[in-house]
Amino acid sequence: MSDFLWWRDGVIYQIYPRSFMDSNNDGIGDLPGITKKLDYLVDLGIDAIWLSPVYPSPDADFGYDISDYCEIDEKFGGMKAFDEFIHQAHTRNIRVIMDLVINHTSDQHSWFQQSRSSKTNEYRDWYIWKGKSERNKLPNNWQSRFGGSGWEWDPTTEEFYFHMFAKEQPDLNWSNPKVVEAILDMIKFWLEKGVDGFRLDVFNAYYKDEKFRNNPFKLGLPKFDQQKHIYDIDQPQMFHFLKEFRALLDSYPERYAVGETFMGDFKTSAHYMGNNALHAAFEFSFLNSRYKPANFYQAIQQWEDELAQVGWPCYVLNNHDVIRSASRYTKSEDDGRLKVLATLMLTVRGTPFMYYGEEIGMRDIPINKKSDVLDPVGRVFWPFYKGRDGCRSPMQWNADKNAGFSKEIPWLPVHDNFPWRNVAKQTNDPKSLLNFYKKLLKIRKEYPVFQNGMYMPLTYDPKKILAYIRQSNDQIALIALNFNKKEVALVLSSQLLKDDWKLLISNKRDTVPKIFDRKITLFGNEAMVLLKQDHQFSE
Ligand code: NOJ
Repeated sequence: MSDFLWWRDGVIYQIYPRSFMDSNNDGIGDLPGITKKLDYLVDLGIDAIWLSPVYPSPDADFGYDISDYCEIDEKFGGMKAFDEFIHQAHTRNIRVIMDLVINHTSDQHSWFQQSRSSKTNEYRDWYIWKGKSERNKLPNNWQSRFGGSGWEWDPTTEEFYFHMFAKEQPDLNWSNPKVVEAILDMIKFWLEKGVDGFRLDVFNAYYKDEKFRNNPFKLGLPKFDQQKHIYDIDQPQMFHFLKEFRALLDSYPERYAVGETFMGDFKTSAHYMGNNALHAAFEFSFLNSRYKPANFYQAIQQWEDELAQVGWPCYVLNNHDVIRSASRYTKSEDDGRLKVLATLMLTVRGTPFMYYGEEIGMRDIPINKKSDVLDPVGRVFWPFYKGRDGCRSPMQWNADKNAGFSKEIPWLPVHDNFPWRNVAKQTNDPKSLLNFYKKLLKIRKEYPVFQNGMYMPLTYDPKKILAYIRQSNDQIALIALNFNKKEVALVLSSQLLKDDWKLLISNKRDTVPKIFDRKITLFGNEAMVLLKQDHQFSE
């Protein structure tokens, strides 16, 4: 396909490097480990890898607190391992997206170390410092997403600094042009190294209100979720930076940026997309949807309406911050529902983002004791929220010790189900979730209608069924998803009634369903994709 554009038409796979593959048996995954598994990813059929942070980090937030932007942490193999990884990925036509965590640095970053050392240090203004307000109060009511006030008192210079996340993650002062310049230089450094794009961590939080006004309350209590974040996120200055950033990206061929919209909805996310801004911005409705067609249908529809056929949607069912879809939607080890959702993710109009282990239906590991929790957020909010360790457990490669991830005890426990839920086992089972994903990925690659075809909803029943059409110049696909355990009939419009469909995939049958009385009947939890080639969509 000549016009295949990797970030638009392809599939992006997120790797949490600590947990993918440990090559030196220290219990932590690393870059040589990922390099070793590239052929697995080629076989799976993905087009790009988004690498969660691999820069040096004291790991207060496992990589999302960076202490040097232009290095690779030795625990992941250092720069040599990174260069080899990029080279090997590119040799296999796999693109690489780095995580850009530039709302904040680690408190161990030399910029912050200098900044906190004295009020006259040249880096002082690289972070957000404020003295006590009248009556010795905090500078304002801004909160940390990870609990408590966002202001931390620093005794050395007797001022507060602001941190939107952990106190070990001080926010950079984006109103200082030197910060912007240093960040753009750093981005250029990675582009020169051949990185294909970036995922921007909480990008819409970079700029803060210049007057540092208090956020109004939605409900009265000064907790993060109960505030309207009109002064600490989504400030208009962001567009100026995005324009410069995009111009830099566009000075290299086919580079890409996707932003993690913080606290945002469809409107906010869409707002940041465009030729002078980001290629894409995450919207997280799929992550928050219940297992109901109504929720998914509405999410798709809102994206379609908001982007008005101009911007390009992207979809996320899993990432390193939320309970895995397999644990959200199933209590058992049955993968029926996961096949329905895999079909949705890989046939809807937009870029699918997969998360390592999603393809084998990895479940969250249980977190039973506070003393076991490694995630800083879990430690703060225990027992109401147990944190994000559950979805970050080691990849389950085979039935060997530690699931083949490492010979040493892994940094997080492997799920108990690994002896039978693993890549090796599912590779040999034609009915496995892994083989279902592989087939879907292949279909998506083979038929351009799934990449750039129009999306048209066909029918949906809030509790049972979701069906839609994808249509391009000469192909038309019908995707029918039964979210219910019982059989459901799908009524077809007259244009779709002719019996010339080809069955591309179903988890429940091998032949095209018969059309009877203008209907086809879907089995319980069936996901089915039908295709007509050389199709003219008129009677
Ligand atoms: C969003 C990331 O996805 C999350 O893992 C991290 O803790 C925060 N940003 C802070 O960087």
